[in-house]
Amino acid sequence: MSGPNTNYDPVEVAALDPAAIEAATTSALSAIAAAATLAELKAARVAHQGDRSPLAQANREIGALPPSAKAAAGKLVGQAKGRVAAALTERQGQLEEERDARILVEEAVDVTLPTGRRPLGRRHPLELMSERIADLFVGMGWEIAEGPEVEAEWFNFDALNFDADHPARQMQDTFYVDPPDSGLVLRTHTSPVQARALLERGVPLAIACIGRVFRTDELDATHMPAFHQVEGLCVDEGITMAHLKGTLDTLATHLFGDGITTRLRPSYFPFTEPSAEMDLRCFACRGSDPGCRACKGTGWIEWGGCGMVNRNVLTACGIDADRYTGFAFGMGIDRALQFRTGVSDMRDMIEGDVRFDAQFGMEI
Ligand code: DAH
Repeated sequence: MSGPNTNYDPVEVAALDPAAIEAATTSALSAIAAAATLAELKAARVAHQGDRSPLAQANREIGALPPSAKAAAGKLVGQAKGRVAAALTERQGQLEEERDARILVEEAVDVTLPTGRRPLGRRHPLELMSERIADLFVGMGWEIAEGPEVEAEWFNFDALNFDADHPARQMQDTFYVDPPDSGLVLRTHTSPVQARALLERGVPLAIACIGRVFRTDELDATHMPAFHQVEGLCVDEGITMAHLKGTLDTLATHLFGDGITTRLRPSYFPFTEPSAEMDLRCFACRGSDPGCRACKGTGWIEWGGCGMVNRNVLTACGIDADRYTGFAFGMGIDRALQFRTGVSDMRDMIEGDVRFDAQFGMEI
């Protein structure tokens, strides 16, 4: 800045020369107009509006002018700065608009494009149904028990009062584990967990065991060599068949909804006396079609076996059979799923096709 003076003509101060101011303004305006990006505009702003710009310098020179000259020079520089500021603001607005429009185009997402995303896995409907069953029993205060799938022949048969020559022991039903004298089988039902639970936990007890069982059946629409059962066992003083019926009806309602019709039909199992089968009213024909394939015209679908625990089983497990009675049941879970979904071919359940799981794997 020039030093203070008293009789000073602004035109003699080079920076305040109107031509110089006009030139600085023109150069600023053209730099602003030429700025093609926000970054270029920023550079133009620094060069033409910043502290070291010609107009800022001219502004500082005003302070050194005699009072009489200050107003005119101030007006001149002020107007020039105003034009530059207005041009900057306008260009800033334009460039921001251009940038926003460009971003909208560049970052546009075509939501109709097919994705490369793989379908998600689903939980298997059998798994969900098993959990649903476990939830019911836990809610009623029962405990969940487990046993091995490779089971001692003694638990699978002997403890359950099967005779040494019972047909179920024969090779055509049971997978025996090598070597032949291993004494091991793939459990043919979940009932061995009854004996394990009685021995381990004692009485009174109420347990449910959900698990996989194995039989040497050919795989077809209604048979699988590996399938699932839910076993129940309740032993206490004063347990009667009414408790059994109530429990199974509660389970049926929980799985199939209100209005499900069940029936108990006399049957035989070595480990229960008396024994019964529980049937469900056919889901396909409701008993009205003698040619129905689901129930083979009987109107009923076998769901599983049940009965009052045979005193020989209690005794084999060290329980006083004069004091305690109990009921037990073993229901097919795959059957229940078939019933619930109407899937007529059981093989669909084990094919591992995620579309099957997606369709039936969600609780409704
Ligand atoms: N374990 C039998 C089966 O797989 C089903 C069964 C019948 C289970 C009667 C029981 C029962 O607990 O009491 O064929």
